[in-house]
Amino acid sequence: MCGIVAYVGEKNAYEILIKGLKRLEYRGYDSAGVAMISNNHEFLHYKCKGKVSNLEEHVGQQSVDAHIGIGHTRWATHGPANDVNAHPHLSGNEELALIHNGIIENYDVLKKELTSRGHNFVSDTDTEVLVHLIEEVKKQEDVGLFEAVRLALHQVTGAYAIVVIDKSNPRELIAAKKSSPLVIGMGEDDFFIGSDATPIVEYTNNVVYLEDGEIAHISLDTGLKIRKLDNKVITPTIQELQIQLEALEKGGYEHFMLKEIFEQPKTIKDCMRGRISAQKGHVSLGGILDYQDKILNARRMIIIACGTSWHAGLVGEYLLEDLARIPVEVEYASEFRYRNPVIYEDDVVLAISQSGETADTLAAIKLAKEKGATILGICNVVGSTISRETHAGSYTHAGPEIGVASTKAFTAQVTVLSLLALMLAKRKGTVEKSRLNRLLFELESIPDKVTEALKTDAACELISEIYKNSSNALYLGRGYSFPVALEGALKLKEISYIHAEGYPAAEMKHGPIALIDEEMPVFVVATKGPSYEKVISNIQEVKARKGKVIVISTKGDEYIKEMADHYIEIPETEEMFMPILATIPFQLLSYHMAVMRGCNVDQPRNLAKAVTVE
Ligand code: AGP
Ligand code: GLU
Repeated sequence: MCGIVAYVGEKNAYEILIKGLKRLEYRGYDSAGVAMISNNHEFLHYKCKGKVSNLEEHVGQQSVDAHIGIGHTRWATHGPANDVNAHPHLSGNEELALIHNGIIENYDVLKKELTSRGHNFVSDTDTEVLVHLIEEVKKQEDVGLFEAVRLALHQVTGAYAIVVIDKSNPRELIAAKKSSPLVIGMGEDDFFIGSDATPIVEYTNNVVYLEDGEIAHISLDTGLKIRKLDNKVITPTIQELQIQLEALEKGGYEHFMLKEIFEQPKTIKDCMRGRISAQKGHVSLGGILDYQDKILNARRMIIIACGTSWHAGLVGEYLLEDLARIPVEVEYASEFRYRNPVIYEDDVVLAISQSGETADTLAAIKLAKEKGATILGICNVVGSTISRETHAGSYTHAGPEIGVASTKAFTAQVTVLSLLALMLAKRKGTVEKSRLNRLLFELESIPDKVTEALKTDAACELISEIYKNSSNALYLGRGYSFPVALEGALKLKEISYIHAEGYPAAEMKHGPIALIDEEMPVFVVATKGPSYEKVISNIQEVKARKGKVIVISTKGDEYIKEMADHYIEIPETEEMFMPILATIPFQLLSYHMAVMRGCNVDQPRNLAKAVTVE
């Protein structure tokens, strides 16, 4: 995936592009570049490897006087991260400039054909082929840029969000999309384009989401016109953005990740707002309400997701089976879609995604839809592709998550899943009324308990200091805490580059125990609950092999204090809500270790916030 931004209007394009790229940098940071059209119809074309700040340095004092331009921050798929492969790419005659998010799958065939017609390519990217193709079609068919893009796209397979400009026309942007997101911002007398709304929200709240197979012709003279690839005219629907600008800033925190960790009491509350009232015995998810009976009559529920969202899905499986007695399977979207799965028309598929743009999750949804299943979604980004592809769903309302490591989105996803399980249990009558009420009260108290759990920050920092140089780490948990162990290990790997494994505590003795020695920190969730005693035995097994044990325990558990090398106390809660609390110290531990190791916390190497390639 990558970040795309474009502007046409009266304002200084460079400032808008750079600011936009900084907001989009979470989507990719291998390289950055801009192409603008100067007042004397020349391209001002700057690009280089690395981050947007490198680009700014590279541009330095060079001319940036332009009112139209396109900008890109790359997450490389074809060709290494270097200056030449950075976008924008120019056509052979250097009259067109193009930015692209996605993959042109048949680029090789197209490249050979274009080479035989005399085109020379300078980069290794699939993207450069596309801009040469548009140039070729424009010349052959003797058409304008819009028509050339439309015809060229007929020859292209793969995924794309593109913006193209022609240096002879500084009043026009052409944009198109298939499987990668694109949003158009409608200013008073100017236009913006973004991969998402973050580079736009500062200037306008009115946006149009481009749909797959649509091409937008944006002109300062004729406004916004949209057509399908087959030339059918589409009437644009303007929607109002709900994002607050402050949500996109660090707000005094050193990193977005830390800000997002500390936001969790609020984001969980926002997620529950209007959906639960313990006092009234009420729990409901508006977006899914009409599908309650469909779910309850379904053969089974299949949860599909990737990464952290998949871990939330595992918690969801436990919750839905436990409370609502619905059979649930949790699948990695990438595995599900490629293994010819059995899907029945009376299956309900629940897709979970923070970004709502993850390519594998999207492809799995499409597959299940084709087979006639009902598709529900839990997404964070409002208006995202997944939220639009599903039949119904619930938003997590956690606000924009900018840190690549998912934190507040995870706890919000688990909160929505808890609400869903409780709503279905109530409808189905699988949980006694008094217990259901107790659970509702407990869930309502979770934001305050998260505030308490965040007070472990200092302890987490101290422990991080001790283990920051470890090469490996093990994370253990049982029952509801098993997904927490997986999530803890993923967080550590992802941002501190320490190798970590999450395991069901009891599985340790079937293999991983061989890894344990005095060098190995073992992080264990051993909070009070049905599996407490068993986990204690697992801790003893680790200790007997001289492993270092760091335990997440229930406040006041003196027994654990004696046994553990280090302990981190969190408030007591119902076992099923423990994942929300127990994950907090794991987030903090990984954060501090990454900072201490000098890692780029918000933008870890090789990663991007949403993986929009398959
Ligand atoms: C989490 O920290 C990761 N960055 C990653 O695993 C992420 O959860 C995954 O790519 C899924 O993304 P999504 O929720 O936006 O679909
Ligand atoms: N496939 C293109 C490239 O590798 C675009 C990747 C992206 O979406 O950033 O340059």
